[in-house]
Amino acid sequence: MTTTLPQTDASDAIRPAVPAGLSHVAYVTHDTAATVDFYRRLLGMELVNAVLDDKIPSTGDPVPYFHSFFRMADGSTIAFFEAPDLPPAAVDTHPAYNVFRHIALQADSPATVDAWKVWLESNGVDVLGPVDHKIIYSVYFHDPNGIRLEITTPLSPAWNDSAASAQAAFDDWQAIKRTAVETGADMVTALAEHTRRQSHQRTEPS
Ligand SMILES: [Fe+2]
Repeated sequence: MTTTLPQTDASDAIRPAVPAGLSHVAYVTHDTAATVDFYRRLLGMELVNAVLDDKIPSTGDPVPYFHSFFRMADGSTIAFFEAPDLPPAAVDTHPAYNVFRHIALQADSPATVDAWKVWLESNGVDVLGPVDHKIIYSVYFHDPNGIRLEITTPLSPAWNDSAASAQAAFDDWQAIKRTAVETGADMVTALAEHTRRQSHQRTEPS
């Protein structure tokens, strides 16, 4: 089916409503069988769609693939592509990349987060935490593809509703960088000292 999009002059463009939520995130797997087992059996997320093609529709690149979708309770999905002959991904240049880059799945209470830890560990999955971040409460683990996952629950409604303080923190961050450039101070040191002063949880891992 072809959809004809309305032609709009750029000067008439109006930003649509904020996106409603997460449709899907997509990652590469080299083992769909292990991925299906992990997401369906361990996380309880049903395999709700599979799409195969011999080329990538958006670019036309001739890469054959199997594309799988696993659904969460709210309808959002985590998706994977397995493509034959795809070489291993490049190695991260710093271990922090694999910590910072993760997917957080929402649970309804700290007790449920704790129950996930018990369940995952009983199935041989290494679990880090729980970690009490004061605004959220989380455990961390990896899927068979090396993707870091988090199961978390909010401890405060402010966790995603603190726009004023977030803007202030952003302004401070930019000011520290600007000052470092203007004074010739070492940027990394200046930012590290700033984060040390601002840290809300000096003894806990991220
Ligand atoms: Fe997180």
